[in-house]
Amino acid sequence: MPTIKEILQTMDYGPALETTKEAQAWLDGHERRFGLFIDNAWSDAGETFATTNPADGVELAQVTQATDDDVERAVAAARRAQPGWVALGGHGRAKIMYALSRLLQKHARLFAVLETLDNGKTIRETRDADLPLVARHFYHHAGWAQLQAEEFADYRAVGVVGQIVPWNFPLLMLAWKIAPALAAGNTVVFKPAEYTPLTALLFAEICQRAGVPAGVVNIVTGDGRVGEAIVNHPGIDKIAFTGSTEVGRLIRKSTAGSGKKLSLELGGKSPFIVFDDADLDAAVEGLVDSIWFNQGQVCCAGSRLLVQESVYDRFIKKVKARMETLRVGSPLDKSNDIGALVDPVQQQRIHGLVESARAEGCEVWQPAGELSTSGSWYLPTLITGASTSAAVAQAEIFGPVLVAMSFRTPAEAVQLANNTVYGLAACVWSESISLALDVVPQIKAGVVWINTANQFDAGCGFGGYKESGYGREGGKEGMYEYLTPLSEDARPAAPVFAAKGAVKAADADSPFAIDRTAKLYIDGKQARPDGAYSRAINGANGAFLADIGEGSRKDIRNAVEAAHKAAGWAKATAHNRAQVLYYIAENLAIRADEFAARIAQQTGSTDAAREVAASVERLFYWAAWADKYDGQVHQPPMHGITVALNEPVGVIGIVCPNENPLLGFISLVAPALALGNRVVAVPSEQYPLSAIDLYQVLDTSDLPGGALNIVTGSSDELARTLASHGEIDAVWRHDGSAEGCAEVERLSSETLKRTWTGGAKGRDWFDPKQAGGRVVLQHASQVKNVWIPYGV
Ligand code: NAI
Repeated sequence: MPTIKEILQTMDYGPALETTKEAQAWLDGHERRFGLFIDNAWSDAGETFATTNPADGVELAQVTQATDDDVERAVAAARRAQPGWVALGGHGRAKIMYALSRLLQKHARLFAVLETLDNGKTIRETRDADLPLVARHFYHHAGWAQLQAEEFADYRAVGVVGQIVPWNFPLLMLAWKIAPALAAGNTVVFKPAEYTPLTALLFAEICQRAGVPAGVVNIVTGDGRVGEAIVNHPGIDKIAFTGSTEVGRLIRKSTAGSGKKLSLELGGKSPFIVFDDADLDAAVEGLVDSIWFNQGQVCCAGSRLLVQESVYDRFIKKVKARMETLRVGSPLDKSNDIGALVDPVQQQRIHGLVESARAEGCEVWQPAGELSTSGSWYLPTLITGASTSAAVAQAEIFGPVLVAMSFRTPAEAVQLANNTVYGLAACVWSESISLALDVVPQIKAGVVWINTANQFDAGCGFGGYKESGYGREGGKEGMYEYLTPLSEDARPAAPVFAAKGAVKAADADSPFAIDRTAKLYIDGKQARPDGAYSRAINGANGAFLADIGEGSRKDIRNAVEAAHKAAGWAKATAHNRAQVLYYIAENLAIRADEFAARIAQQTGSTDAAREVAASVERLFYWAAWADKYDGQVHQPPMHGITVALNEPVGVIGIVCPNENPLLGFISLVAPALALGNRVVAVPSEQYPLSAIDLYQVLDTSDLPGGALNIVTGSSDELARTLASHGEIDAVWRHDGSAEGCAEVERLSSETLKRTWTGGAKGRDWFDPKQAGGRVVLQHASQVKNVWIPYGV
């Protein structure tokens, strides 16, 4: 007698196609031709391009390729609308956003079907995953609008935001972008991807119905050229981009020096780690959600399967068995798992990568299956035998292709997991809470799922480490991306420094008259500059003070190496880091008079004692924060909790301000250290001696060697080296050089370092609002969201 399982296996499913009647009627109602949505009005369609159904290649509609003039009109409309949108107040905006979420729910099926037609993803996903999350985003952010005055009292909206999204989650990405922007009081110019513009156009109609005022949401369609026009438009205050790392880099370059705020959600090559004690069957299901969700066209797809050697063969067998049951076919069929790829271009790209792996000797396995000859399809694919450096193991394939490898120990799993330029997400499967929670902090990724995969919620931040970009979407941290601290508006112009005159002889009665050649400070020791060059520093009265080391590229390299070796600082307890900062303060206070005299001598300041006192207080301030900048625990509407942890960024290069040479230095270096970063600091180029005098203070304050390295010399040259260095995670520049800051931003694009630059403006370093607060903490940390089963 056959078993039930065998009977089920012989049963054939009849197609269960979702009707497209309403969606087709909507398209017909627009004569399958769309203009742009600007200032609450539809423009006539201009030059158009076709958007097609990836499942059969049939054209759905013609959509307008926006021109530069269209972008100009959209930005102008958004600019006009912004003050009124802010003036509506939190409750006013919340009511409209609530209406948006209700309308999205009421029309959920139309949206879902239209999305499936335009994108090729299965109706099961658009209906059960995308749409509920879209509505949830607007609800959640309606709440932030309501609470804005209370929760973000010291902030204002950024202004007009340009938002550019890809084609893999067209409406969901729209919600992730538009909901927080509107909640915070911004107006938007939004560009959907050229492959998938339709649901954004339907959303425009929903905006009209919800009473979104004219100009608050503007939707311009078109290809990358329209994206570029938005990015380069001077009337835009912030760019929020999701898409390829390549375009993310271009955007970083072209916004350099513009003062535009920027958040980038880019590619990934996320590891899916299975330990030998995992529930293997559950892990297989998790893997299906991780890599075969949305045909693998997911930035956080678990595309690298890492399995502990002892269960590798068993697990791969289970994976293959499960792959045999995945149904590929019409996205409108409710029982299909895998739909169509967005475009033949993507299919060819995936095919090329898979075939190159085959040519390199990898084993490529696919279940048997017939694919339709029209449309773009790809069978679920498993690649084994790839080397860790193979293109398929490193490049974002963006298709239903899994690359599997084995590991022996947890340490090797971590090493393999981190062996990529990306750092978006990771999954860890183990029944041992100790093992899972030991591994998670070692993984460099913005999101980690334990015993689950691809969970998202509006209340939990999402975003990457390393070349997966920066900024977060969702949660409170996502709201900050759309806000500017009021203290930024109060910043003064950068001080202007007169060119240095010729150096006069040292004053004979100077307490610093003894000849001294200050060295650099690397790895907790004074180090001679590699180039053996020095530069003379004179005082405010022109008299010679000292020769200082002329730091070079090689010195920065040594400093970065020392900083990496000092990884223990990141692991030290926050209490311990606070103790060290208090100790530095204590030792500085003992020598307050000497430091004040030095400041006065360099700068001519009559207020030097106040600067030293403020520096001691600033050290206390950041020591106080060290063990208080806790993360958060979110309770998303799933069986689990999400722990949002503030982790250090890594190694930060800091170019310090010229004014207030002691206070400026401490105001930037101390918060970075407080949160566990290691620092390579370039002190004030004008007045470097205050930082140099700190060497002895640091030596006696228990700061581990390499946690703080100081390289003196030319700010421009050293900043350039920091910004181009591959092993530095972030660069801060605050010396008032607009050109220099722009250059740092430009160069940072190579490895997508995070930057914090002051541009042409100065900062009142005495003002705790301008030189302290949450903004600095945010620059010194990155949020890792860890999803943990809880109450299951
Ligand atoms: P893409 O990054 O070129 O496109 C994303 C969006 O950016 C689209 O709206 C596009 O029109 C716009 N865009 C293109 N060039 C631009 C520019 N110079 N300035 C401003 N905006 C610009 O991604 P594409 O070509 O659609 O896909 C190529 C590959 O990128 C995929 O195979 C995949 O590997 C990766 N990708 C990754 C995504 C992610 O979420 N991580 C999303 C989409 C693509």
